[in-house]
Amino acid sequence: MINLAIFASGTGSNARRIMEHFQGHPLIRVALVVSNKPSAGVLKIADEFGIAKVIINRESLKDKDTTLRRLGSFNIDFIALAGFLLLIPKHLVQAFPSRIVNIHPALLPDFGGKGMYGMNVHRAVKETGVEKTGMTIHFVNEKYDEGETLFQAEVAVKREDSPEIIAKKVLALEHKHYPVVLENVIIRNLVNEKDQES
Ligand code: GRF
Repeated sequence: MINLAIFASGTGSNARRIMEHFQGHPLIRVALVVSNKPSAGVLKIADEFGIAKVIINRESLKDKDTTLRRLGSFNIDFIALAGFLLLIPKHLVQAFPSRIVNIHPALLPDFGGKGMYGMNVHRAVKETGVEKTGMTIHFVNEKYDEGETLFQAEVAVKREDSPEIIAKKVLALEHKHYPVVLENVIIRNLVNEKDQES
């Protein structure tokens, strides 16, 4: 089995979709939920699904030995960020090359970078007056929102759409695509690799 860890700081609606998608999957399982926030809704969802969870705060995340030991004890092979607000440190990127993906609620490189998260993104989309927005799934490198793009999906922005409406449209796209794209990337990168080893 490929062991997937989901890193999330908030509500966890994408995390829920991912957990649902991989329930009973023959090759991939969600083995761990990592959050930096003890109050994050995603931790309750982990309980619902009987998935292990750990809190790793900002300081521990920066500490290579602590973080790798914690992930190592669950044999984590791949990491999916789903609303995780801390910057992934260099040591983690290096320990999981092309094995960390993130979802961003806009069409990168537009509306990305530090501070561009949650409603900030959708307000900026509204203020700029663009006619379309969407979501991006990308590999994670050491800078916010700059790793290689794996997948994008678009949705039209109508003149009357509020930032809240835009957020709803984008979230629906995320729920539709993230689990499937994740599955494809993991299979392409890891299952094939393990087959070659054996
Ligand atoms: C999503 O919009 C995702 O793109 C962003 O954070 C949000 C997480 O929402 N990175 P949820 O916690 O999955 O509901």
